[in-house]
Amino acid sequence: SAAEKGGYDYFMLKEIAEQPKAVADTLLGRIDAAGSLTLDEVRIPPGVLREVDKVVIVACGTAFHAGLIAKYAIEHWTRIPCEVELASEFRYRDPILDSRSLVIAISQSGETMDTLMALRHAREQGSCVLAICNTNGSTIPRESDAVLYTHAGPEVAVASTKAFLTQLVACYLVALYLGQVRGTKWADEIRAVIRDLAQISGQVERVLETMEPVRELARSLAEKRTVLFLGRHVGYPVALEGALKLKELAYMHAEGFAAGELKHGPIALVEEDLPVVVVVPSPRGRSVLHDKIVSNIQEIRARGARTIVIAEEGDEAVVPYADHLVRIPATPTLLQPLVATVPLQVFACELATARGNEVDQPRNLAKSVTVE
Ligand code: AGP
Repeated sequence: SAAEKGGYDYFMLKEIAEQPKAVADTLLGRIDAAGSLTLDEVRIPPGVLREVDKVVIVACGTAFHAGLIAKYAIEHWTRIPCEVELASEFRYRDPILDSRSLVIAISQSGETMDTLMALRHAREQGSCVLAICNTNGSTIPRESDAVLYTHAGPEVAVASTKAFLTQLVACYLVALYLGQVRGTKWADEIRAVIRDLAQISGQVERVLETMEPVRELARSLAEKRTVLFLGRHVGYPVALEGALKLKELAYMHAEGFAAGELKHGPIALVEEDLPVVVVVPSPRGRSVLHDKIVSNIQEIRARGARTIVIAEEGDEAVVPYADHLVRIPATPTLLQPLVATVPLQVFACELATARGNEVDQPRNLAKSVTVE
């Protein structure tokens, strides 16, 4: 009913709007006054966490994209090798696991069969499984050794939005916590990131306030057949997520690529007026990444692409090559997905509406996939 949707036309719109609160709620009570993480609720003894020599993340769909982003954070802050695998592929390739492997299963519903089977397999090998889950008491956290709940609240729309942002927050918390427990040379950076995380909710709010041009752009592209998404570093999984949203909602051909892969094949797809969304890393911090993506934008534009550029406020280098420019607030490199994903959600939702599709219940899809 309209009341359930809180005055929005679709649950998806309501859930996109709820993201600042979902992010804040997921941080709530997990950082103490001194700026340290208090994740005692994750009942894995610090001794076990100190012995971990490998992290393996298993998940499906959007939750898998959160896992891909988590890998950058975990390896950077903890120096523990991290693999990310589609849950449906995991157990069938006889993965190498033992009691020193920490397996993280990410799932909004907690009922995804592929993810459940992957975690059962990991536990059979003696690994410790931590669930990141949005649904209290669901099967995946019940069968795991420990759980860190995301506090997104119920997500009804089939397309995952607020659950994804809170999965990212939970992944950052786990990465930072591992760093904190094990002691790392990044201690100062970790404290700074914890402070930056506290700003994210307000920054997501600001992104939401500036989405009208994105909606207008989406409507103008309703007749297109294909949209490509490019990103580098953590922007690459954001590109994959943008493409997945467009597939499931707008039923359009959409693909996400690592920008560096362009010249290894995908650039052959670029033709006159093809919309290409590019997620640009911050020009501060790792500026090599930024400079490389600016040349990628030039390359595709020279071949006729219509460039839709998502870039940090104050990034002037992209201006000459952007046919459409979407501004996001400046964040540390690793946290950028929390703000960069939001315009892509809005874009997909508006395109679906413009094409007359059922936004909350896309064809052929179920909210939780309880069969393998
Ligand atoms: C996301 O928009 C999808 N509907 C889907 O990929 C989803 O993320 C996936 O099925 C995993 O679900 P889960 O998080 O409930 O395990």
